[in-house]
Amino acid sequence: MTPDRTDRNACDGQALYPRGPILAIESSCDETACAILSPEGEVLAEKVISQEAHAAFGGVVPEIAARAHLALLPDLARKTVEASGLTLHDLGAVAASTGPGLIGGLIVGANFGKGLAIALGKPFIAVNHIEAHALSARLPGVSKKNISFPFLLLLVSGGHCQCLAVEGIGRYRRLGGTIDDAAGEAFDKVAKMLGLGWPGGPQLEALAKEGNPAAFAFPRPLKGRAGCDFSFSGLKTALARQIEPYGNTALPRSVAADLSASFQQAVADVIEDRVRHAFAMMEPPSTLVAAGGVAANGVLRTSLTRIAAEHDVPFVAPPLRLCTDNAVMVGWAALEVCHEAARRGLPMPDDRAVRPRPRWPLSEMQERFAVQAEAV
Ligand code: KG4
Ligand code: ZN
Repeated sequence: MTPDRTDRNACDGQALYPRGPILAIESSCDETACAILSPEGEVLAEKVISQEAHAAFGGVVPEIAARAHLALLPDLARKTVEASGLTLHDLGAVAASTGPGLIGGLIVGANFGKGLAIALGKPFIAVNHIEAHALSARLPGVSKKNISFPFLLLLVSGGHCQCLAVEGIGRYRRLGGTIDDAAGEAFDKVAKMLGLGWPGGPQLEALAKEGNPAAFAFPRPLKGRAGCDFSFSGLKTALARQIEPYGNTALPRSVAADLSASFQQAVADVIEDRVRHAFAMMEPPSTLVAAGGVAANGVLRTSLTRIAAEHDVPFVAPPLRLCTDNAVMVGWAALEVCHEAARRGLPMPDDRAVRPRPRWPLSEMQERFAVQAEAV
């Protein structure tokens, strides 16, 4: 089969496919999101709904999330297409997060995307959600200079906490990750103990501004250890112990502020140490990139800026709307996969046969091009 090429940009393979804008869908957790990107990666429209129904439960309830995606997605997709000024028939492809994540939401988003792609006679691209976070900083316009490979990614969100060597499209090496809670999960649990709302990270950061980061000498789990694994559960327990004496009485605000500031500093110190180790575990990276909701944290950003400067590389954190779950990153990852297929002389990918998966290791992403090459 001959690759489906247009002659646009044929020499560098950058925008050979898809043959029209891509509609992308994100539904792996509690954000229902759609975006439309041009084949080159210009964002033509984006919409996201953060499901609020989970706040009352202090965490994401998978069944509620799946039902909400089902209720919200058709209308959100229609409004996103309208906002782009296009019609469905102008689309060149449809993409959706197909894993890893909460399986109910993934089934809703991926099947909606596949159904639409089939009805329109366009290809469907199954996107790995972590790969989408990993590549988000390469979206045109996010950083002043194009971020080249390899780069070091710190992914810190409510569900993930890991360092990745991003060596190319489909080539991701996990350098280390959490052995218990994700960083955002630890922020959320501690915020709950302090009586703050959910999600707790932003509220804890706000309260910490009133507190003293040196007030409590919290442990720095795994700091100095070889490798770059993370652990936050001991830190959480240490904080719980400080709260115990107050029993059922409300914590004085100044104590809660000192606890917040000391906890936040401990998390930032641990992450700084782990990232320093990650640098030593890979070929010198071009850039240090942070993604995920926790990358919004100011104290953490200061630590990461310092480590990047020590290694003489830029520190890039995409704007918050691209750090937290969104569909723009899903569309961009799908485009990167299409562009890479074009560079390799492969046909436009079509993943209608790929099933949603709650777990989908990044190490498998390299195979997609080999499998595609075999099928040609
Ligand atoms: O990436 P994200 O929106 O969703 C996923 O988990 O996939 O990340 C949400 C997490 C929550 O745990 C939230 O508490 C945390 O990111 N977060 C923060 C901050 N903003 C959001 N943690 C610390 N400081 C912040 N400013
Ligand atoms: Zn995510």
